[in-house]
Amino acid sequence: MRVPRHIAIIMDGNGRWAQKRGLPRVEGHVRGVKVLRRVVKWCLEFGVEYLTVFSFSTENWRRPKEEVDFLIDLFVDTAERELPFLVREGVKVRILGSKEGLPEKVVEKWREVEERTKNLNRMTLVVAFNYGGRREIVDAVKKIVEKVKDGEEVVLNEENFRNFLYVPDVPDPDLIVRTSGELRLSNFLLWQGAYSELFFTKTLWPDFSKKVFLRALESYSKRERRFGGLQHG
Ligand code: FPP
Repeated sequence: MRVPRHIAIIMDGNGRWAQKRGLPRVEGHVRGVKVLRRVVKWCLEFGVEYLTVFSFSTENWRRPKEEVDFLIDLFVDTAERELPFLVREGVKVRILGSKEGLPEKVVEKWREVEERTKNLNRMTLVVAFNYGGRREIVDAVKKIVEKVKDGEEVVLNEENFRNFLYVPDVPDPDLIVRTSGELRLSNFLLWQGAYSELFFTKTLWPDFSKKVFLRALESYSKRERRFGGLQHG
């Protein structure tokens, strides 16, 4: 089987999973973290080198304050609790997003997990937090404008534009998975996902199983990637 080097996942359906069970929505997020831990293990097992997960979007601020606060605390708590597991398994963590508007405790945790895992290289887990694809592109343009203002010469093309994105050293995702039956990208990896294969499943994120994970891998394995050309990619 041809395994994608980089899988990106829109972990959708936590709220619906909880509501279906008469639980508060946030219970779905708690369960979602447990599933994410399993997915990291499956990626290690199958040799997936990069896993990116969408855990908080720039649009999620529109949710009720209690849910936003819960997701922020969940990020901080999960980072703290899972750090030993990640270090043990050799997982480098990168956070993808804007630091603007984030509480100081998040930014601190962000720096700490990146620092403590920076020399690990069995796999990279990219956590998109306070992330929006359009925001990322606008932020990249702002960085370029700053450089030009400082008198630096910037030669721009598609290849070096990526140097201004949040995590330029992470390759583009080969496969983007979205759970819960929604068929859209919702502002996720707009630049990087230009040629990604897409896999959608009706399974809600808290129910995401190894069976569905394998179905996504098998589906990817059968695709012919041409990147706009005629030959097999
Ligand atoms: C989408 O479900 C999920 C989110 C907005 C949050 C995902 C977050 C996690 C799984 C946990 C946080 C991750 C880390 C790394 C700490 P939804 O709430 O939009 O569900 P719905 O569409 O059914 O309402």
